[in-house]
Amino acid sequence: MSEHDHSSPTPCGGCPGSPEQNTVTLPERRQFLKLCLGLFALSWGAMTTVPIIQYLIPPESNDAGQEVKSVSLGSIDTLPKGQGKNFQFGKKPAIIVRDAAGDVHAFSAVCSHLGCTVQYDPTKTRIGCACHGGQYDPETGKNIAGPPPKPLTPLHAEVVKGEIIITRANAPQAGKES
Ligand code: FES
Repeated sequence: MSEHDHSSPTPCGGCPGSPEQNTVTLPERRQFLKLCLGLFALSWGAMTTVPIIQYLIPPESNDAGQEVKSVSLGSIDTLPKGQGKNFQFGKKPAIIVRDAAGDVHAFSAVCSHLGCTVQYDPTKTRIGCACHGGQYDPETGKNIAGPPPKPLTPLHAEVVKGEIIITRANAPQAGKES
């Protein structure tokens, strides 16, 4: 008889639960688990580091080196009073803040310290830089705390027929010099 009788009390190498089968599959299971853990660690690492890198290095826009003269941010209704948001002005990150009175103020979002991207913090009513704690006045862009040595570069923001239009500031505004 060439085939083993699996109902026999003596297990063969291929029988479920036989010592031969367990010693063959256990290392494979361990390798599979290690592979799964490795893949999990890799994807977790990517999920946490990619947003940080994207935050620190803003993506380039598609203007292929052309100087952007103006950007529309859409309806003023999309930016409530006391709120701010980041946007792209050409290749550069920029920020707009709408103060409590409803006036809009826009600046380059490049921190004057080491170039991180700043963001508006409505709880502190400050523009802040997460890299080293720099802070700027949201209405003037003036550096008011932390290591930034200069104000944020101003942009010109105006509301035309209910639409926010950002253009380059022709000259530094009063009170923006360090
Ligand atoms: S880069 Fe902004 S505080 Fe240092």
